[in-house]
Formats: sequence, C-alpha cells, structure tokens
Amino acid sequence: MTDLDTLVHAAAASFAEAPNPAELENAKARFLGKSGRVTELLKGLAQLPPEEKKARGAEINRAKQQVEAALQARRDALAAQELDAQLRAEALDVTLPGRHRGTGGLHPVSRTMERIEAIFGSMGFDVADGPEIETDWMSFTALNNPENHPARSMQDTFYVDLKDAEGRWLNLRPHTSPMQVRYARSHAARHAEALAQGRPIPEIRVIAPGRTYRVDSDATHSPMFHQCEGLWIGEHIAFKDLKAVFSDFLRQFFETDALDVRFRPSYFPFTEPSAEIDIAFASGPNKGRWLEVAGSGQVHPNVVRNFGLDPERYIGFAFGMGPDRLTMLRYGVDDLRLFFESDLRFLTQFR
Ligand code: DAH
Repeated sequence: MTDLDTLVHAAAASFAEAPNPAELENAKARFLGKSGRVTELLKGLAQLPPEEKKARGAEINRAKQQVEAALQARRDALAAQELDAQLRAEALDVTLPGRHRGTGGLHPVSRTMERIEAIFGSMGFDVADGPEIETDWMSFTALNNPENHPARSMQDTFYVDLKDAEGRWLNLRPHTSPMQVRYARSHAARHAEALAQGRPIPEIRVIAPGRTYRVDSDATHSPMFHQCEGLWIGEHIAFKDLKAVFSDFLRQFFETDALDVRFRPSYFPFTEPSAEIDIAFASGPNKGRWLEVAGSGQVHPNVVRNFGLDPERYIGFAFGMGPDRLTMLRYGVDDLRLFFESDLRFLTQFR
C-alpha cells in the first residue's frame, strides 16, 4: 500500500466517522483544507526534481480525487439520512382514525317532550312556555285551590324568599297547571274582541311542557321533574273528546294500538269530574299492569271564570301528564334519578 493509498483510506475512514455535516466539514478541512494533508502533499511537489514532479503530481491528484469522491459520497449519505429522519418525524399515518368532536345527543326526556309536542301539534294544539317561579294565585288559588285548603298539600313545593304583589311567597311551580290560566288570560284581548263582535272565542287548544318542583325524592320522584299540561276549551268540548284525544296521543306516543286506556275517578280541585289516566300494555315487561300516566278532568267552572270566560258558555277539559314517567315506560328505565345524574354511560345510550 502506498502512502497515498493510506491517506485515501484515512480520509474515507474519518469521513465515515463524521456523524453529521458539520463534523464532516471539519474532517474535510483536515485533508483538503488550506493546510490539509492532501494540500500539504501538493505543496511538497515544489521540492521534487522536475523528472519526478509529473508522475508524483498525477498520483497525488488521483488520490485527491478519491478523497473528494469519498467526501461527496459521505455528504450524500448524511443528506439521505437527514431526509429519512425528517420524513419519519413528520410521518402522516393516513390509516389512523380521525380525531372528531363527539356528537351530542338529546336527553331522553327532551326526546319525549319533542314527541309530545309533535303529536299534539299534529292535532292542532299550540305549545306554550311559562315561568317556573310562580305566584301563589297562579299555582293554587286561580286553580280553585284556596288558601289553607288541604288539597294544597297534594302539591307541596319549594318557596322563594320573595313575595308577590299580594304579599305571598313566590313558589317553584308544583305543576304546569298555572299555564292554563296564563295562556287563557294572555288571549283575553282576542277573546274580548270576538265576544264584542258576537262571535264565539277561538277555541283554546294548548299544551304547556316544562319543569316542575315538589318536596319529594325517591326512585320514582325527583324534587325537579317534568310535566306537560293540556287544555282544550270551547263551546262544546266534552269528556268524550278528552278520551279520544288522549287515547289517540298514547297510541301514537307508544307506537302501538295494543294498549288499554282507563279513566279512573279521582280528585283535583281544578277539574270536576276528575280522572287519573292509566294505561296497560298488551305485551312487554309491564304487560297487563295498570300504570298511571296523567291526571285529567273537565275544567272546573271556577277555573273557567279565572280564565276570564263565562263558565255557562265555555267548557272543556284539561290534563297534566308526566313526561319523565312516559320516558321510563318507553325506554324501560326503572329509576327516575338516572335522568338527572348526567352520567354519560346512561345518556349516550339515547344518542
Ligand atoms: N296538576 C296535576 C298534578 O300536578 C295534574 C293535573 C290533573 C292536571 C288534572 C290537569 C288536570 O290539568 O286536569 O298532579
């Protein structure tokens, strides 16, 4: 091996050891730089006698080309390595599942509310919304439930530390029934206009879904729950209409005709006669069992009077149902509290 071969090998070895382009440039300086080993050899040519100069010069130049080739090869290798690392770091795995924002879903009770609104809407019922903090008169007195009457304990509720204009504590409404009075009275001007023109008032046909409150808490009662009130008032609205409308609603709601509906005599201050509405399914886990789903009745003349209407002329029915109960029955949920605990494991099942 000549001294030049050794030099070329040494250069190639030190280029190969350079781990990155900066170190490679340092290695290059050691061989090809101004005072690098190859450069020094070329400078040394000057001392040689002319007859040796040519041959030695050609040998050194060949060695220099080999060193340059080794340098270029290492440069290319390092660049390829770097590109490779960069590609790996920035790799885009198109087979990964996408990151998406989870879609929300309606609460099961909201689904029920929407169903109730759609079904009654198709029967020509308006949908009304009203305050959850009520006056004593709206929650009780206007509904023929006078102060100190024991029937008030049927709807024991929470009170707000504020009094109304009559000096009575405001309450969290224990039922949606005040909406009967609010809705009828909100149309007083329309009613007066019709009556002044000798026409009957346009029929009142409304449902009022919403939150209600009572001092109650167990597997089937929650201090906050939902109700949906219904009211139909006209000149000839009879109990048979209540039976037809509500039975029709139930069959649509539960999507089955295999359903018995029973009107069981009961008592409410705001209706006379009054009835609880019970249903029994012909099949399923509750097969044959009577289940209470609503209170109802023919609106009491005193309440019609509080609507601002003449009870001798206007008559009709009202009902108040429990959407929470309907939701439990429709989906087979056995504990009401699940609806209000916000546990996603429960709620996402209804998405
Ligand atoms: N408000 C009653 C309750 O909370 C339910 C009810 C019964 C509503 C009879 C009515 C009705 O409109 O006519 O238990």
